[in-house]
Amino acid sequence: MGKKIFSGVQPTGNLHLGNYLGAIKNFVDLNNNNENSCVFCVVDLHAITVNQDPKDLRNNIRETVATFLASGIDAKKSIIFNQSKVSAHSEAAWILSCIARMGWLNRMTQFKEKAGKDKEKASIGLYSYPVLMAADILLYDTTHVPVGDDQKQHLELCRDIAQKFNNDFEVKDFFKIPEPLIQKQFSRIMSLKDGSRKMSKSELSDLSRINLTDDKDQIINKIKKAKTDPLPMPSNLEELNKRAEARNLIGIYSSLSGLTLEKIIQEFSGKNFSEFKDNLSQVVVDKIAPISVEIKKLLNEKDYLDKILLEGSKKANDIASKKIKKIHELVGF
Ligand code: AMP
Ligand code: TRP
Repeated sequence: MGKKIFSGVQPTGNLHLGNYLGAIKNFVDLNNNNENSCVFCVVDLHAITVNQDPKDLRNNIRETVATFLASGIDAKKSIIFNQSKVSAHSEAAWILSCIARMGWLNRMTQFKEKAGKDKEKASIGLYSYPVLMAADILLYDTTHVPVGDDQKQHLELCRDIAQKFNNDFEVKDFFKIPEPLIQKQFSRIMSLKDGSRKMSKSELSDLSRINLTDDKDQIINKIKKAKTDPLPMPSNLEELNKRAEARNLIGIYSSLSGLTLEKIIQEFSGKNFSEFKDNLSQVVVDKIAPISVEIKKLLNEKDYLDKILLEGSKKANDIASKKIKKIHELVGF
């Protein structure tokens, strides 16, 4: 049986290798299976939970669509749209925020990380962000949600919200309870500068991540400068698991090449990192440089990108408006 897929990516710029390996690569595989129906959303409402320059936001929305297409998502086979253009998302988020409990949201670790020390100054949107994410997913009767490891807790909250709504209004299967699709291995790609932090769009140092718009020379330079420890390459899995930076680099190599960790360790055991890095650069360049070229080409075709969003929004609206109508009836509006 085909799956109903929904996932979202924030248009906040600097889409990177972590986004690709944790999420977008899986979108492409799911999209290639004709039995699945896929909806990929540029979540611009989520983006404004922290300050955005309107001009940058507009560009970043297009860049996110360009990245989807350049990575291999087929706009004919899936729905690609931006969240703000389908008003059911905002409406459902309000209604679901009356279902979700403060206690549930207070447990969300991503809010704590993003709000930092001064929680009083964080926007209310940043706090209720996971409720909007639940609305996104539930409006489309989604069965599976491909995401990186950092979204696992938000998915669990979404399931709790769906369950409580179904119970409160005595409609057993009204909201489908979605399953997360998270890579078994390397579902969290780490910074190239610090193996204990995740690779992130907002990290100040550009050397910490490989952007999907980086060219060949930038990729090679960043891998050359990537942090490692002073020891030679690890010789077994146990050793690898204790060495964060080595683990991350070998993990990236494994994810992109399809080679197992054991095989990679066997090949490079005891060698210098520089030799491994040459091989890693080759694999990353082979995969990412063509995507980067295609993104830049597509960014010159603004009308084409806007047309994809417009058509996608219409299709998304057809689905979401029906679901929100039923929600209204159930709630008593
Ligand atoms: P965001 O950029 O926060 O909208 O994330 C888009 C998708 O990329 C989500 O599914 C995230 O879980 C995933 N993602 C973001 N950063 C990483 C990372 N460092 N490693 C793996 N997946 C990631
Ligand atoms: N919160 C997700 C992130 O930051 C993005 C997102 C928004 C999403 N709505 C979603 C992901 C629905 C999956 C499904 O990465």
